[in-house]
Order: sequence, then structure tokens, then C-alpha cells
Amino acid sequence: MSTYSQMFPPKPVFTEKDIPILSGKVFLVTGGYSGVGLEVCRALYHKGGRVIIAGRSESSYTAAVEEIRGNCGDRLTVDLSTPGSLEFLCIDLADLTTIKPAVEKMLENVKRLDVVWYNAGVMVPPAGSKTKQGYELQWGTNVVGHFLLHKLLCPLLTATAAGSEAGTVRAIFVSSIMHTYSPKPYGIDFDSISRDNEKASKMAIWNLYSQSKAGDVLLADEYAKRSVALAPVSNEDPAKKKPHVVSISLNPGNLKTNLQRHSTGNKIKEFLVSMILHEQSLGGLTELYAGLAPETADYNGGYVVPFGRKGSVVSYVKKGLTSEGTGAKLWEILEEEVKDFA
Ligand SMILES: NC(=O)c1ccc[n+]([C@@H]2O[C@H](COP(=O)([O-])OP(=O)(O)OC[C@H]3O[C@@H](n4cnc5c(N)ncnc54)[C@H](OP(=O)(O)O)[C@@H]3O)[C@@H](O)[C@H]2O)c1
Repeated sequence: MSTYSQMFPPKPVFTEKDIPILSGKVFLVTGGYSGVGLEVCRALYHKGGRVIIAGRSESSYTAAVEEIRGNCGDRLTVDLSTPGSLEFLCIDLADLTTIKPAVEKMLENVKRLDVVWYNAGVMVPPAGSKTKQGYELQWGTNVVGHFLLHKLLCPLLTATAAGSEAGTVRAIFVSSIMHTYSPKPYGIDFDSISRDNEKASKMAIWNLYSQSKAGDVLLADEYAKRSVALAPVSNEDPAKKKPHVVSISLNPGNLKTNLQRHSTGNKIKEFLVSMILHEQSLGGLTELYAGLAPETADYNGGYVVPFGRKGSVVSYVKKGLTSEGTGAKLWEILEEEVKDFA
């Protein structure tokens, strides 16, 4: 899939009209109170889903509720016997201590999880920015925080998949076209990802963003393998596995959102960049396609590109996954890193 085609994609084929009524289903979206995540939540809510918005600012959540309820978008109006619902899960992905208590509380009244979008992200913050535990901010937020959250949600996802139609329970890891600029040879410089890392402090900030987005690709790929292995065995036929969770990574598209909040200052550059950015609702469709389209049910381990098409990961990152086991290596490192918070 060429860079050009991802930057200037064709019109989406899968739109809100193609989303079925979602009553009875439960969804979680990190960073769901702004940008692309908000568009995903808007569609899920107006189709009757129970939507959990995970983020660190309750006031941003409250503002988003008003925005989502008040504006269904003209293509979404449907008659629902059970209306959608919205709730807040207060977690700061840049502080690992906040994640487990929030998930444990959530699990008291959430008994299924149909699709989770690991959508929150930070891009090019001031150099030297770190998470509470000392990770480079982009790596810590985009990868480590999401990994811990995912680890805590895995049992619920697996249990939901066991009792659901095959391919409908999914974990979506939001990456970026920028993963194609991640460090060579395989996307992750494993010497740069620990806490208070000296090497990371000397790497270019864009390089670190790209590396974090390659990290999201690796997590999706490794979870795709693990979820098949983790699927429970069928009672009727012990030789058969019950449906597993489908794991997909994606590039939502280049979009007008708050993500560029840290990369402002040069007006000419800002103008030029704005020329290649699309409406955030189109990025929402990319994410909705990955999470809900019938055809992506069999796309475990795949990669979706704007605005809802099957694509492929850049070849050197793919090579690392297939011949160097980079996904498994990252997973094992992160297991160790988050063990005191899980
Ligand atoms: N926009 C693009 O052109 C583009 C292109 C490729 C990929 N992406 C990816 O798309 C995803 C969504 O980005 P967006 O464009 O919608 O940007 P956005 O509007 O800035 O949304 C990012 C969301 O992440 C949340 N977030 C950041 N740090 C967090 C933390 N420590 N804990 C919890 N939540 C946190 C933000 O919440 P706060 O407001 O509280 O910070 C915000 O809700 C990101 O993963 C991004 O990398 C975007």
C-alpha cells in the first residue's frame, strides 16, 4: 500500500450506515473524548452501544458527552429500542499506577467487552518528556500504558469471544503511517525502551514517535498469535477452539485533530501540513471498519489503512515480526516492565 494512497485515500466504502444496531454490546475507547476516538464513540453510542471512554480528564469527558449526545451526524439517525450509553473510565496511560484500580472497579459492573480501541496517543511532546514511571512519554503512553491496560482486559475479551459469534470480539491497536519511519532494522531499538533511558533521551522526537507506533503494530501482531492460542477449548469438541479475539493494527489517516498540539510554532509548516490533513470523522471510519466491519473478522494480525481498507505493515517491520520474533520479544519485555502494576 503506497504512502501516497494512505495520504490521499479513496472515499470510505464502510460508513456509519453499515454499522448494525449495537444494543447489548460493550465497547471501550482510550482517548475517546477527542479527535478520532470521539468519532468512534459517537457512532457506537448512536447505534445503541454501551461505550466506555477511557482517559485522564473528567472535564474533557463531560464535554464530549454533550457533543456526542447532541450531534449524531446526519448519517447516523436510527430508531433504537435501547439507547446507547456513555461512561467514563479514569486512567492516565502515562501513570501505570492508575490503570489496575480503574479496571478492577470497571469489572464490577462490566461483564463483557466486544471491541476495544487502543486509540489514545501523544505525538512529539517537548524533548525529555517522561511518564510517571520514567519512560519516554510517547513510548510510555502509546505502548507501555496500553500494554498494561490490554493485559488487564484480556481475560474479559477472551471470555466474551468464547460466547460470541466468531470474529466479532476485537482489539484494535491504533498505529500510524509514521511507523514506516521507525528505527531500522526492525522498527524497535530495544536498547532505547527502558525507564530513564539514556539512548532515548538522545533520539530525535519524531523517531521516538515512529518507534512507539511500530510498537503498537508489534503488540497487535503478537496478540493476534496469542489470542488464537488462548482461546478456550469447546466443550462439545475438545479438539476445537472457541472463537478467539481478533487483533488488528491500523493507520487512521492524516487528520485534523489535537494530535499536532505540540508541533506548532512554524506558521508556514502548519499551513502546509493542514493541506494534507482530512476530517477526523474519516479517521473514525478507519477505526470503525477495523473494529466492526464483517470482512475484517478474518483479519487477525492484519493492518488497516485509511479510510477502511486492508493494507500492510512496512516490509522491514514485517520482516522483524516474521523472522526475528520482535513481537514476542517486545511482549516479554513489557510483561516484565509492568509486572508490579498488573
Ligand atoms: N491525527 C492524525 O493525523 C493521526 C495520524 C496517524 C495516527 N494517529 C493516531 O490516532 C490516535 C488518536 O489521535 P488523534 O489524532 O485523535 O489525537 P487527539 O485528538 O490528540 O487524541 C489523543 C487522545 O489521547 C489521549 N491521551 C493522551 N495522553 C494520554 C494519557 N496519558 N492517558 C490517557 N489518554 C491520553 C488524549 O487525552 P488528553 O486530551 O487528556 O491528552 C486524547 O483524548 C493516536 O494514537 C494517534 O497516534 C493520528
